[in-house]
Amino acid sequence: MKKRIAVFASGFGSNLQALIDYNRTGDLNGDIVLVFSNNKDAYALRRAEENKIKAVFMDPSEYDTREEYDSKIIELLEKEKIDLVVLAGYMFVLSPGFISRFKNRILNIHPSLLPSFKGAHGIKDAFDYGVKVTGVTVHFADEGLDSGPIILQEALNINQDESLEDLEEKIHKIEHKIYPLAVKYFCEDRLKIEGRKVKILDKNNKK
Ligand code: GAR
Repeated sequence: MKKRIAVFASGFGSNLQALIDYNRTGDLNGDIVLVFSNNKDAYALRRAEENKIKAVFMDPSEYDTREEYDSKIIELLEKEKIDLVVLAGYMFVLSPGFISRFKNRILNIHPSLLPSFKGAHGIKDAFDYGVKVTGVTVHFADEGLDSGPIILQEALNINQDESLEDLEEKIHKIEHKIYPLAVKYFCEDRLKIEGRKVKILDKNNKK
């Protein structure tokens, strides 16, 4: 059966768009049935509406604690029978209660080669540090910051004459290529977590 996917996004939503576009090929093996945001102005919500996907904004300032906010989100996800949560630029830390409720069913994308340059400014932090190689990581979310088991990574060289904007463009291009792949692997039950390591199983003989 096709997995029911919720995408969480706080901003522009280009990764959401990449998933929607990839799914048009029919190859994702999942349905994006919900887009959720903590930011009412997130362009991701507009993208959802334009693509006839249910778009929900919940205002965090209306809740006293993160736990209360997240338990409302959990209610929504349960109602929508969500199998997989895909974080796509969701810039709001999830509570431990949320993470444990969806254990091993939350994916995140981060614009650096983890564990380097965690946090909200992965691209700029790597650029400013002067590393020669950076990249993109897709991983399972756990209780820590950008710390869960890694599913896919792709590296790229930072050339000495390139600007931060050039680098951002290259990073996003990689993100839009590898995130749909990781989601597809999840939807095909091909991700096996063994401690910190994630094995990608062969499509036909899953071992
Ligand atoms: C992406 O670059 C993603 O890797 C990053 O936010 C951007 C969202 O872009 N996420 C993080 O930095 C998480 N720590 P988008 O809204 O266009 O998909």
